[in-house]
Amino acid sequence: MTSTVIRDIGMLVTQDPDLGTRTDAAIVFEHGRVAWVGPTNQAPAADTEIDAGSRAVVPGFVDSHNHLVFAGDRSAEFAARMAGTPYAAGGIRTTVTATRAASDDELRRRLATLVTQAHRQGSTTLEIKSGYGLSVHDETRSLRLAREVTEETTYLGAHVVAPDTDPADYLALVTGEMLEQCAPHAKWIDVFCERGAFDGDAARAVLAAGVRKGLVPRVHANQLGPGPGVRLAVEFDAASADHCTHLSDADVDALAGSDTVATLLPGVEFSTRSPYPDARRLLDANVTVAVATDCNPGSCFTSSIPFCVALAVREMRLTPSEALWAVTRGGAAALRRTDVGHLGIGAKADAIMLDAPDPVHLAYRPGVPLIAEVWISGQPVV
Ligand code: NIG
Ligand code: FE
Repeated sequence: MTSTVIRDIGMLVTQDPDLGTRTDAAIVFEHGRVAWVGPTNQAPAADTEIDAGSRAVVPGFVDSHNHLVFAGDRSAEFAARMAGTPYAAGGIRTTVTATRAASDDELRRRLATLVTQAHRQGSTTLEIKSGYGLSVHDETRSLRLAREVTEETTYLGAHVVAPDTDPADYLALVTGEMLEQCAPHAKWIDVFCERGAFDGDAARAVLAAGVRKGLVPRVHANQLGPGPGVRLAVEFDAASADHCTHLSDADVDALAGSDTVATLLPGVEFSTRSPYPDARRLLDANVTVAVATDCNPGSCFTSSIPFCVALAVREMRLTPSEALWAVTRGGAAALRRTDVGHLGIGAKADAIMLDAPDPVHLAYRPGVPLIAEVWISGQPVV
């Protein structure tokens, strides 16, 4: 089957500057790409005909920050946190122990489940990081497994220092042998630049080594407190500085004068009961803002972009259209992709039909399963 037409779309949000948002619209997918957009009554015939029944169609969500290769369970840590224990990066090592002990098949099975759950919630592009292996063997296999499900793979050997390892030795490993083995399976290099993880100097060494191997930087920055992460991301022309929860004026100025996207992860603040990032301050400074899930077993175990849209609107005061932009075009910008996050002619035919007349419902009806159908490259996946 090579072509599909969706007719009678009540609201079609293309996120394409020329095509804009249209009512009573139709869209045609051909050979995995958007081939035509226009009024329903002018839509051409196609192999598959779908009637949207006045429902809304939007671009597939681009979830640009995920940690999906892991084993084990940290629900007890979450319960303790809700009872008052603060979040600490040290929990990552619990997942490292479980991940190292798991077979490839178990990790693959768990990853497949998480990817299916993400698809069902409208995510059509997923970035996936390593970072729960922290040995040459386990980081390499994490990336190999991630590569089986996405081209957006990120080497995060610098998540925390591996258990029972001297920090200087671990830095040498992450920037040496581990990078050597991991780079062929990764597109991006990331570092958790935070107290308790990697300081500014160590993070700079990690990013510089990754760039020398042809990887493109992205940075876990300013999540748990103020620090050098955001400015380092800008210095390295990183695609994205992620979290951005604790920002100084200098951080905002640096982002504003750069091509680095600020990726906000409000599910983390929700799940760690922390203050939300000041998204309005970033938007007012004309910083490009993306919103992603940060699906991981510790700080935020949700893969639901609709949930994050609701948080972005309710808790970070994005308008519903800013939030939709942040999870489509914003996510694409954070991955330096121009073929996803919109439904312009020639774009990848990744789209969602909502059980709603208007995407405002994503925030207006939190927790309600509104994702009716999902297409990736023009093929239905839900
Ligand atoms: O993005 N910040 C570092 N990494 C994850 C948390 C990982 C964990 O707690 O397992 C994050 O929040
Ligand atoms: Fe993360």
